[in-house]
Amino acid sequence: MHKKIIWDQSFETGIAEIDTQHQRLVEIINSLADGIGHVSMDDLHNILTQLKEYANYHFRTEETLMEAAGYAGLEEHRDEHLAFVDQILLFDLDVILASEGLAWDMFHFLRGWLTNHILVVDKKFSTAMSA
Ligand code: FEO
Repeated sequence: MHKKIIWDQSFETGIAEIDTQHQRLVEIINSLADGIGHVSMDDLHNILTQLKEYANYHFRTEETLMEAAGYAGLEEHRDEHLAFVDQILLFDLDVILASEGLAWDMFHFLRGWLTNHILVVDKKFSTAMSA
């Protein structure tokens, strides 16, 4: 089940700037769902980077509003923001490691194939030629 987020009125906060930013975050997260299985690890990394940067921008907007209003729940809310960004960084690390793992698998296959080919197949050929 990979349903994308569908924006509706229930998400509206009544603060136009915040709602607009939330819609952008929804777009980015939905684009991640579109990309999985179709795009490269680099592309996934780029989407996560975009998400991290936009989330930080959005969180600063909210925290500035909360500070200006003297909102009592600011610290608790800020902790939620920090935890979200931390999680994005962890996901991004997974993507980077997965990408690197894939590259190493490729390298091991190519190394194994080439060395075996030279030592066994080419040697058989070159030995026959010199006989
Ligand atoms: Fe809209 Fe607190 O993030």
